[in-house]
Amino acid sequence: MARILVVDDDPRLRDSLRRALARLDHEVVEAGSIEEALERLSTPVDLLVTDIRLATGTGLDLIAKARRDSLAVKIVAMTGFGSINVAVDAMRLGADDFIEKPFRLDAVSARLTKVLTAVRLEGEVARLQRANECLRDELETDTGGASLIGDSAPMRQVRALIGRVAPSDASVLIQGESGTGKELAARELHRLSARATRPFVACDCNTLPEGVIESELFGHEKGAFTSADRRRIGRFELADTGTIFLDEIGELAPGVQVKLLRVLQERAFVRVGGGETIRVDVRVVAATNRDLDVATQQGRFRTDLFYRLNVVPIVMPALRDRLDDIPLLADLFVKRYGRRPNGQQVRLASGTIAALQAYPWPGNVRQLENVIHRGCVLCQDDEMVPEDVALELRPDTAAPMSGDLRGTLAALERDLIARAVRDHHGNLAAAGRALGIERNLLYYKLRKYGFRP
Ligand SMILES: Nc1ncnc2c1ncn2[C@@H]1O[C@H](COP(=O)(O)OP(=O)(O)OP(=O)(O)O)[C@@H](O)[C@H]1O
Ligand SMILES: [Mg+2]
Repeated sequence: MARILVVDDDPRLRDSLRRALARLDHEVVEAGSIEEALERLSTPVDLLVTDIRLATGTGLDLIAKARRDSLAVKIVAMTGFGSINVAVDAMRLGADDFIEKPFRLDAVSARLTKVLTAVRLEGEVARLQRANECLRDELETDTGGASLIGDSAPMRQVRALIGRVAPSDASVLIQGESGTGKELAARELHRLSARATRPFVACDCNTLPEGVIESELFGHEKGAFTSADRRRIGRFELADTGTIFLDEIGELAPGVQVKLLRVLQERAFVRVGGGETIRVDVRVVAATNRDLDVATQQGRFRTDLFYRLNVVPIVMPALRDRLDDIPLLADLFVKRYGRRPNGQQVRLASGTIAALQAYPWPGNVRQLENVIHRGCVLCQDDEMVPEDVALELRPDTAAPMSGDLRGTLAALERDLIARAVRDHHGNLAAAGRALGIERNLLYYKLRKYGFRP
């Protein structure tokens, strides 16, 4: 069941321990010296049982090394009767338990079985924790298997690039304004890779305070800091054999940048407060909505890390640079949000698409999605008219400047009216006075621009 290494210079003691443990179905290997033990440990064991006083040296060195290099999951020291100080040293160096010599064989077997049960349970807990956290991630950011929509030239280029780099393990840096679909692109990279059935783990580097982000990414050991009452498995471990998506990478604190660099170079790290080196096989996809080049020049972001991340850059185009995609996207979102409980489906009135294409979309696809969602809620008779979507045109976003004088003036007028009404908390008499127009005219214009009472 478990692989156990017994280290003692007394062959008779090794032999009786081996036989007792073999009866419990364990695979037992033996070593009579530290050198021999290290040779055996070229394959790590589940349990290392070692005497402390060996003819060729002290078992304490062996314990320290085994712990540091993760050569054994559990370690039990054997100490001479009454040498409690040595036992304490062994525990401090990483032993999980100690037994005093001379011992009764049946008592020791029971003790070791208990230690091994703990190994199995911990493994099981870690596995459940992983499964659970992956599931939670899936729920949090479920995109319903959506993929990147768009038939415009820039979108087709992006999709082609994603298709080409997905199968490799190269790190990818996705840049683009807010709401351009960076996360969706990252999921697409994962979906089209050989890791598709493995975990996709996302981590937003921006929303978490500096102290938390490190243990979020790399995990921590019990007792690493005051509130660490149990070991925590970090995102990198959760993403093992899969893909990790590091969102808003530009916000990463300098200390964490160093640690991330090491992961990219060596695929290894240590948990916060831990000594054990953890190896992972993870594909890294990072995203940022600000210019990382500039952050690098200003010294806020490490140049070496930037180059490691930016093996393949993907730039998501802004929605205003691909207005051709608006009909397809609008259609997608109307289908997503416009299904009534009675089975009716909201439709876009003629003119609504044109109104959507006349807007600069500072919040990109995410904003379009919100506007349409809202239109689906507000529209009457299942038909979304321009007024239903125009409500979102906030006065503090610049009015579209096109060559069409009348359209531009109307947009400006609409913005001014919206701002006045908002500034006067909906008091139309006051808003009218501020705008220098009669109340009746204001009523008329409010109706004209689709503001609802
Ligand atoms: N090309 C696209 N096709 C379909 N849906 C899209 C597309 N681009 C973005 N979306 C949708 O728009 C929303 C925002 O996308 P996403 O979260 O990927 O953007 P982001 O670039 O990560 O934004 P932020 O910088 O704000 O985090 C999501 O609901 C996503 O499904
Ligand atoms: Mg995002």
